[in-house]
Amino acid sequence: MTTANTAYDLMGGEATVHAIVDRFYQLMDSLPETYGIRKMHAADLSGSADKLFMFLSGWFGGPQLYAEKFGHPQLRARHLPFPIGGGERDQWMLCMRTALSENIADVALRDSLVKAIGELADFMRNRPQ
Ligand code: HEM
Repeated sequence: MTTANTAYDLMGGEATVHAIVDRFYQLMDSLPETYGIRKMHAADLSGSADKLFMFLSGWFGGPQLYAEKFGHPQLRARHLPFPIGGGERDQWMLCMRTALSENIADVALRDSLVKAIGELADFMRNRPQ
């Protein structure tokens, strides 16, 4: 017997995580106000999308794809080469909040994920600003 009680299951599993990640990078790639973080990334966003998909799969409570392939994420250390202050955090969250809103119908689930991922994004700051 399986019980759908992780965020991953509740949102619809792999297909929804893919939809969130695709929309996230589409927004980053097109919104003028997120150009600041877009230009930190490679011209081709497919590698970033693959990694964020693998990470979020595990972070939402589904298969730990990122950890299985790369080991412990050490996300803060991996972000140190990029100057991230409050502005960059807000740009990242603008894309993520929109992607989550468009793909998760359950308001309580969506709100709790926006809050938790917002705390993670805040933790990624490495510049005062
Ligand atoms: C707060 C603002 C953030 C900015 C500006 C930012 C930017 C970046 C950049 C430029 C990269 C390197 C390019 C790449 O490999 O994709 C990266 C990698 C990555 N980011 Fe972020 N990021 C932010 C927050 C986050 C958060 C909150 C998460 C998790 C929910 C996250 C997950 C990842 C992952 C999994 C990678 C790939 C790490 C690797 O294996 O190299 N990022 N990020």
